[in-house]
Amino acid sequence: MVTHLIFDLHALSQVSSLYTENMTKIGLFYGPQEGNVEKVAKLVASKIENVDLVKVKEVDANAFDAYDNIILGISTLGKHTWASDNEGNDWDQFLPKMNGIDLKGKKVAIFGLGDHIAYADFFVDAMGELFEVVKKTGATVVGSVSDEGYEFNESRAFIDGKFVGLPVDEDFEEDMTEERVDNWLKIILPEMK
Ligand SMILES: Cc1cc2nc3c(=O)[nH]c(=O)nc-3n(C[C@H](O)[C@H](O)[C@H](O)COP(=O)(O)O)c2cc1C
Repeated sequence: MVTHLIFDLHALSQVSSLYTENMTKIGLFYGPQEGNVEKVAKLVASKIENVDLVKVKEVDANAFDAYDNIILGISTLGKHTWASDNEGNDWDQFLPKMNGIDLKGKKVAIFGLGDHIAYADFFVDAMGELFEVVKKTGATVVGSVSDEGYEFNESRAFIDGKFVGLPVDEDFEEDMTEERVDNWLKIILPEMK
């Protein structure tokens, strides 16, 4: 009887520590599954101890359940594909799955790939669109970024004088990516403890 109890308590503590470990782990969800978003997702993940890289193309929204802390990576591929029913776009497929989900109590940070030269009037727009969807889930969005060091005309991701997440331009400012990521992680990781 006593042996059983000791065994059960041991098992229970193992389960609860597994649970705790998993919930402090960061889930980094990204799409498209190949390209600049993936490159930056891997860079971000290489700088975080406890992180799972998840392709949005391969999961449903209940994949968020396993994480209290979530990073989302997206690129802007033009209004003609964004939020359309284009089946080739990973986020276009995933976003409808986020309708009505509840992410209250979770922290979410977003990074967005864009091109500030060719698309100066739509710079990282998709990050702004994704932000609106995330806000509706009740999650707390962290990691807004000042426009210092960025050149652009307009952006849907620029709200109330700040970017809602981290803009990254691998087309024209690749050499600035790592420093931008490092500075951003200094903001979001303390929030995700
Ligand atoms: C068809 C097309 C449309 C694009 N539209 C935009 C845009 O509206 N705004 C923007 O900032 N970047 C735009 N870009 C630039 C991409 O976001 C950028 O190249 C990004 O790094 C692509 O990442 P990915 O390869 O992971 O999708 C566009 C690129 C393409 C090919």
